[in-house]
Amino acid sequence: MRNFAAVFRRLKPIESVHDNPGTEKLVPTLSWHHLVALGVGGIVGTGIYTLIGQAAGLAGPGMIVSFIIAGLVSACAALAYAEMATMMPAAGSAYTYSYVVMGEPIAWLVGWSLILEYTVVCAAVAVGWSAYAAGFMAWLNLPIVPELLKGPSAGGIINLPAVGICLAVAGLLAAGTRESATVNFVLVILKLAALAAFVALALPAFNSAHFTPFLPYGWSSMTAAGVKLGVLPAASLIFFAFYGFDTISTAAEEAKRPGRDLSVGIVGSMLLCTVIYIAVALAAIGAVPVAVFAPSAEPLALILRTIHQENWSAMIGLAAIIAFPTVIMVFMYGQSRIFFVMARDRLLPGSLAKVNSRTGTPIAVTIFTGVVSAVISGLAPLSEIAQLANSGTLCAFIAVALSMMIFRVRDPARKRVFKTPLWGLVGTGAIVGCLYLFASLPLDTQIRFVIWNAIGLVVYLAYSVRKSRLAK
Ligand code: ALA
Repeated sequence: MRNFAAVFRRLKPIESVHDNPGTEKLVPTLSWHHLVALGVGGIVGTGIYTLIGQAAGLAGPGMIVSFIIAGLVSACAALAYAEMATMMPAAGSAYTYSYVVMGEPIAWLVGWSLILEYTVVCAAVAVGWSAYAAGFMAWLNLPIVPELLKGPSAGGIINLPAVGICLAVAGLLAAGTRESATVNFVLVILKLAALAAFVALALPAFNSAHFTPFLPYGWSSMTAAGVKLGVLPAASLIFFAFYGFDTISTAAEEAKRPGRDLSVGIVGSMLLCTVIYIAVALAAIGAVPVAVFAPSAEPLALILRTIHQENWSAMIGLAAIIAFPTVIMVFMYGQSRIFFVMARDRLLPGSLAKVNSRTGTPIAVTIFTGVVSAVISGLAPLSEIAQLANSGTLCAFIAVALSMMIFRVRDPARKRVFKTPLWGLVGTGAIVGCLYLFASLPLDTQIRFVIWNAIGLVVYLAYSVRKSRLAK
């Protein structure tokens, strides 16, 4: 195709991304602490509350190292994100940065990956929510039958609570509900207080013998059945727990001082969560041997039950039940924004992102995301869903780090409100780290990711390349 090279020269002018058509101009009311809360609100969810068990099963006590690796890679990406988000505070995040810096085809694939990530994250958080809801119902002596808590591949029928929460959140969003910064603040405090209570209750039961052998499966190994085990595969799973800070960039318009506030929000929420996660992981392994909590669908609650803190265990469950739906809301909202921006650029049909005049929401896209994430959460196992979400996120993080580095070289004189320190090292660290984590994902996940993007390429070549606003 002779013209194919030309589409790579379709770069979105940076000046055009600052406005945010389709939305009212928002009043700047948010300070850095609101943005840190917004970031933590999107970050803390199923990852630390649920996947910590599966990660422990993959790596043993060496999971602590997996947390550090996933945290370091995410911190490098967060720094690159902060630089790009403060330079282009506009909806669309990684997709928009890629469009400005690397051209339309790459931006398309990044946007396509983000659609996968956001939808699948909603499903994963719904599955985590379902397990804690079931544990809490059992504590109330109202147990849910096990067949209605897992999909057919795990020996059940459908994960009904997960389906219900996806549809309920989509319904709320479609009706125009927005989580206010104040509600988010309260829920973040609740989630963090529950984690702090967990650490405080688990630490007195600390037994250092639980940390040996520290690396039962080494750095990376494979079972006869082809399952990847060890520190790196666990890091590629628990990476799920670290992202969500990227959703802060959607609030760029509302930041009082976007430069300082956004960078403190993104980097601060990331670092805060890393410290909390490592404390939770150390307390969990110290209190109960890995083999006991690894298979659990609600490991933090199970650990507290094991050390005879039944009531506190129920309270942790309650905190998860109340707070997780907002994580789903944040990602579902993010999904509709990505659709919206891609449709505005005419890479997707405009009808998909039509905003309802009464509620101000793109109803069709929101319901579509709700239904797809409900189906996935009802049928698929959590680790597979989370790993698929991670593949899309890793792709977006690589794109953001690459965009940051290329733009430094191409336009060094442009004013940068936040500058990534040691940008060459940090950018390379993010890219190499994400590639390493991607390589450590299960082969099935990598294949699904490639299939998804192959479909994306077909859609791009068959539709978007001609319809694009930048097509001559
Ligand atoms: N980081 C988010 C969570 O763990 C997606 O739920």
